[in-house]
Amino acid sequence: MRIDIISVVPDLLASPLGESILSRAQQKGLVEIVVHNLHDYAHDKRKTTDDYPFGGEAGMVMKCEPVFELVEKLQSERTYDEVIYMSPDGIVYNQHEANRLSMMENIIILCGHYKGIDQRIRDHLITREISIGDYVLTGGELAAAVIADSVVRLLPGAIGDEESALSDCFQDDMLAPPVYTRPADFRGWKVPDVLLSGNFGEIEKWKEAQAYERTKLLRPDLLEEK
Ligand code: ADE
Repeated sequence: MRIDIISVVPDLLASPLGESILSRAQQKGLVEIVVHNLHDYAHDKRKTTDDYPFGGEAGMVMKCEPVFELVEKLQSERTYDEVIYMSPDGIVYNQHEANRLSMMENIIILCGHYKGIDQRIRDHLITREISIGDYVLTGGELAAAVIADSVVRLLPGAIGDEESALSDCFQDDMLAPPVYTRPADFRGWKVPDVLLSGNFGEIEKWKEAQAYERTKLLRPDLLEEK
C-alpha cells in the first residue's frame, strides 16, 4: 500500500509516522508513506499556498494551483483509490472506514489548514472527506496521522500477532473485553477464575459476555447500529 500525505507543515508528521509500528511496517515494505510539502508546489518567491477568501470572510483559504499540480502529478504516476481531505465536516471516522481504507492500493490524504480549502479542490479532486471527531484541530496533520496509524496496523504482518488486530475494539461493533496479566492476585484484587481455568471454550464465552456488557454500559449506540 502507498499513502501520500500532503501538508503545509510536514514536520508535524515526522514523529507519528517515524516511530513504532508505522516505522516498522515501512521498513518491512508493507506500506510506503510519502509526505509532500505543499510549499514546494507554490511558484511565487514566498511559496504561498493560501490567499484571502473572496467575499470578505475572516481567515485564509488554501489555493487551488499547488494542490492541483501536486495531486495531478501523483495521479499521472499511479492510480489512486481515494483522494481524502481531512476536515471537521467530513464523515466521522470509525473502524469500518479504517478496514475499508486498509484494502486500498494507493491513497492521497490532503491536510487542510487555515480557514479551509478552495471549494474547487473539493469539487474536482477530493473523493472523500473524513473527520476524526466533532471538534476542530489546527490542521489536518494529526488527523492524517490517526488515519495512517489505524490503517497500517491492519495490514497483514504489521503487528506481530495478526489475531490482535482482528480482536481489536470495534472490529465487531463491540468494545474489547477486559484483559489481565500477572500477578493473579494484586492487593487482593483477583483475576477472574475463568481466565486461569485453562478451559478455552469457557474463556471465549466469558470474553464475549464481557464485551457485550461493556458495550451495553459504555457505548449502547454501537449495539443499536446493528
Ligand atoms: N481538521 C481540523 N479538524 C479536523 C477534524 N476534526 N478531523 C479531521 N480533520 C480536521
